[in-house]
Amino acid sequence: MRKPYIAGNWKMNLTPSEGKAYAAELSAAVKKAGVDCRVMIAPSFVSLPGVVEAVKGSDIVVAAQNMANHLAGAYTGEVSPEMLKDIGVNTVILGHSERRQYYGETDEIINSKVLLALSLKMEVVLCVGETLEEREGGKLEEILERQLRVGLKDVLPAEMGAVTIAYEPVWAIGTGKTATPEDADSAHAFIRRTVAALYSEDIANNLIIQYGGSVKPGNIRALMEKENIDGALVGGASLKLDDFLPIIIFSK
Ligand code: 13P
Repeated sequence: MRKPYIAGNWKMNLTPSEGKAYAAELSAAVKKAGVDCRVMIAPSFVSLPGVVEAVKGSDIVVAAQNMANHLAGAYTGEVSPEMLKDIGVNTVILGHSERRQYYGETDEIINSKVLLALSLKMEVVLCVGETLEEREGGKLEEILERQLRVGLKDVLPAEMGAVTIAYEPVWAIGTGKTATPEDADSAHAFIRRTVAALYSEDIANNLIIQYGGSVKPGNIRALMEKENIDGALVGGASLKLDDFLPIIIFSK
């Protein structure tokens, strides 16, 4: 049984004070609702300490949106995974399409981050997904296969329990265009088959695959009903309790 995993990627939104107040509100609301899915929020680096404090005593996972691929040294502007661990952050989103598109992160760079995070016993949410051009050019499977094969290179089978995959078609992010539940499910099924080929059926069956791209209270249920969709990585709709809470309690 794969436990649903609903995550909110705040991207570059909410100041540290806004983030802390919202996290406290969310934590209380999630406790009250008694949800049985895993819930994660990923604020900006500077908001992390306040958010970690605000959700203390709850089961909400606090994640970083990125990290450096080095432990320490002369890397101006970067944040080391050891710094994250020191403030109680043990989960990191890696390979988000905005990191790939705007900051030139390649599959190889992302892989080095994945390996470093796993070596420190952190959990990783590895994002994959195609652009509209790639989808229309019939390259969906080729792109996903490469992002998984290179992104997970040298990850040991025993480490795969700490890896979640987020399928985020680039054309569905922040555009209001959601992949249909059928399209998303078929991409997720392909991801699961690819992980089965790279590792084993067992690892693939236990793999949590989140869908991301314009997830809203109104479409979460139809997405989560699909066999291969185990959760969501939510952007815009994770920024307000009124939107995010109904997504978290979709099954009630
Ligand atoms: P939106 O939900 O705003 O489309 O963003 C999705 C996303 O990129 C989450 O990581």
